[in-house]
Amino acid sequence: MRIVATQKLPGSAWDELPKVDLLDVWPPPARLSGVQALIAAVTRIGVAELDLLPDLQLVANYGVGYDTVDVMACRERGISVTNTPGVLDAAVADLTLALILACRRHLVASDRFVRAGLWRRSWARPELLGHDLAGSTLGLVGMGRIGSQVALRAEAFGMHVAFHRRDDGLPLDELLRTADVVSLHVPLTPETRGLISRKQLALLGDGATLVNTARGAIVDEDALVDELVSGRISAGLDVFVEEPLIPERLLDLPNVVLTPHVASATLETRAAMTRVLVDNVLAFVSGEPLPNAV
Ligand code: 8YV
Repeated sequence: MRIVATQKLPGSAWDELPKVDLLDVWPPPARLSGVQALIAAVTRIGVAELDLLPDLQLVANYGVGYDTVDVMACRERGISVTNTPGVLDAAVADLTLALILACRRHLVASDRFVRAGLWRRSWARPELLGHDLAGSTLGLVGMGRIGSQVALRAEAFGMHVAFHRRDDGLPLDELLRTADVVSLHVPLTPETRGLISRKQLALLGDGATLVNTARGAIVDEDALVDELVSGRISAGLDVFVEEPLIPERLLDLPNVVLTPHVASATLETRAAMTRVLVDNVLAFVSGEPLPNAV
């Protein structure tokens, strides 16, 4: 059995795997025969990549979101796909709250203000005045495992929580119109790609905040950048359409907090994700049912 990985993953569970060959580059420069299992982290695995691994039977995806994997193409070739759900909800919810707080209380702008030596009088500038979380409304787009964890935390801060789900909660447009903070917690699928369009962004109230720890392509990124450049809204963004490329126009804006897709990036959570992934690979190796087949 040959197993390859796009990178070594953190945590002690990794050592329980049989021999794993680490690939120097992805996709591999030439066809690799005899590879039955691929361990992949945020990497595109489409038809062209699958053609390079003709004997593949398993794609073990490091992450709950598997939008980078062409699951239909895998299915047609009899390749199973697994993901790592359930262990990163708290970490992602924590970063979501961190971005909400950072935007609503101008945390990053305040830090820059102090470091730039601008704090010369006892009172900071009016532009550092933020908004209370208590009494404000959080609109969640998606109310699954991660959305529910965000709701719990937001309620502890005194926020009113509303949500939109495909067949439940507020209609999307009403949620966007009424929430002070909108946070996205849906997977990227053909249905949710571009869900927050230019028209929808225009529904956000002046001074509202959009937080995205889900996937960049759920939002029309060009339209979002236009709104942010206008200064009408603020945003906390952990994900982007073409990672690691960040739209250049965002870089100097005071009303945006940018993080590099780190919502699940704690030592504990990443180790727990590795545990789940390794359990799936070990089940595959011993011919048992896969715990997290998608
Ligand atoms: C990444 C994520 O997978 O779980 C997801 O869907 O986006 C993240 O946890 C992580 O950065 C590891 O690649």
